[in-house]
Amino acid sequence: MRETTQTVAEGLEGVVAARTRISDVDGEAGRLTIAGFALEEIAGRATAEEMIWLLWRDALPTAPERDAFARDLAERRALPSIALDLLRAAAARQSDPMDALRMAAATLSLDAPADDEDQARTVIARFPVIAAAYERLSQGHEPIAPRPDLGHAANYLYCLTGAPASPERVRALETYWNAVADHGLNASTFTARVIAATGSDLVSAVTGAVGALKGPLHGGAPGPALDMVFEIGSPERAEPILREKLERGERMMGFGHRIYKVRDPRADVLASAAERLFQSDGDRALYRIALEVEQTVLRLLEEYKPGRRLQTNVEFYTALLLHGLGMPTRLFTPTFAAGRAAGWLAHCFEQRRTGRIIRPQSEYVGERGRTYPSQE
Ligand code: ACO
Repeated sequence: MRETTQTVAEGLEGVVAARTRISDVDGEAGRLTIAGFALEEIAGRATAEEMIWLLWRDALPTAPERDAFARDLAERRALPSIALDLLRAAAARQSDPMDALRMAAATLSLDAPADDEDQARTVIARFPVIAAAYERLSQGHEPIAPRPDLGHAANYLYCLTGAPASPERVRALETYWNAVADHGLNASTFTARVIAATGSDLVSAVTGAVGALKGPLHGGAPGPALDMVFEIGSPERAEPILREKLERGERMMGFGHRIYKVRDPRADVLASAAERLFQSDGDRALYRIALEVEQTVLRLLEEYKPGRRLQTNVEFYTALLLHGLGMPTRLFTPTFAAGRAAGWLAHCFEQRRTGRIIRPQSEYVGERGRTYPSQE
């Protein structure tokens, strides 16, 4: 076999594959920078539309730009009948909501022009409408037509229930979407960049990214964190139940992270948003249990896993916040996708500007010189 001196970076760990102005994840300091803003500075203040513009243009919009952008997104929301037919067929088969989103996303190139900006705007406008329509269809209800007079986040909440959402709820969803809009070169973002780098269209890029995000190692974890809080049920049960789980070697869902070795900054932003939301409405008892669970888990992890630097991650408070917004766990990952699509598309624009295809190499470790068996 041929000798090789190349080093293989399994999982591309430690490989820097792009220069970006979109976001920076500092796992040692627990800092997330979004286009120059600390996450804590921007997440609770910007509207969803402002955040998308910021990621795409590397600057906040002026007021006229923001209003025109919001109007344009609102006008693009209505789903083509082919997308609705597909969602109905998927609901009849009880398909996974991320499969439904991927299939409906693929239809968006039918009536979106090939122009990147147009496709990107159509994707952003329709992703939440698709997620809401599929949620309603899969529960046996008709989809609710989007309302062009509502903002991006308010319209999503409206399409889920048919009732206008309170400003506190809209703010909570916008804070969540802003907190997860971009996070370095994560797997789905890398997928989108690889597709965009081939010169393919942006609907193809986000459709591929949805497929990557569906995987349980990437976007599918907040449900179990909430299940743990439900199982505990009251603050005094937290310690015995959690101790038992750790004794059995179980992992604490919503804790630990490959990159963050201190508290995930998104957990702080989402914890504050959850606190505000649960003050105005929602299940206050559940919120109190969640706080107790978090404190108990952190204390027990110090005891059972000393030195591993395990902290609360984004999933723990995502689960609490989205539950507070009345969403069932099956909607968590599609809602995440609707927020992350802003980052995917920003990376596609950035990748396009490099003009280079992404084409790493592999090291062949298979046989050589095999011969085809002669036919008897
Ligand atoms: N609960 C208990 N112990 C844990 C946890 C946890 N949540 N996370 C890690 N550990 C322990 C491991 O058992 C291991 O202990 P050991 O040294 O005695 O064997 C040590 O900490 C290191 O664990 P690794 O698996 O090497 O850490 P890694 O960085 O690969 O894992 C991961 C990161 C997958 C997120 C992990 O912390 C985990 O499974 N967390 C629970 C699931 C979860 O919350 N996932 C969502 C993550 S957020 C996101 O990805 C967007």
